[in-house]
Amino acid sequence: MSFDPISSLDMSTPAAKQEAYKLLLAQTESLLHGERDWLANLAQFAALVYGAVPDLNWAGFYMARADAEELVLGPFQGKVACVRIAFSRGVCGACARSQQMQLVEDVHAFPGHIACDAASRSELVLPVVVGGKLRAVFDLDSPLPARFTSDDARGFEAALAVLVEGTDWP
Ligand code: SME
Repeated sequence: MSFDPISSLDMSTPAAKQEAYKLLLAQTESLLHGERDWLANLAQFAALVYGAVPDLNWAGFYMARADAEELVLGPFQGKVACVRIAFSRGVCGACARSQQMQLVEDVHAFPGHIACDAASRSELVLPVVVGGKLRAVFDLDSPLPARFTSDDARGFEAALAVLVEGTDWP
């Protein structure tokens, strides 16, 4: 594989962050080029994000199941995590229920937050919707309070759009 992943993006200023997300988008395109398998692509994307984006302690997917209002752990990087999350629970459940991005500046203030890792202080969860159907949520945790802003949400949305387009979903 000729892909050379960036190991730590500079997100120290708003301008640097904008550039960083452009680079993440370009890296997502190159990384997934020529491969449409959902499991491989989601695993690669989680690894790319976890390696490149600063101040994360977890990055990965919870998969939606057609027959249940429950998410099941998918490809991720970070510490071992809870396997099943009901749509009625936690930040991931709120995202799955509403199909809306959830940006939580302080996880301790979010009713029902599920603490897979006690180090987590803030969280961003984005829906992965394919053809109008929820297929997964992409969950990011940080040990820093208020780590994520709407700029991060937009950056990840753009990268996830590339992932959705470049992947065959089962
Ligand atoms: N904190 C999440 C659970 C998943 S872990 O963070 C990996 C939640 O409240 O849904």
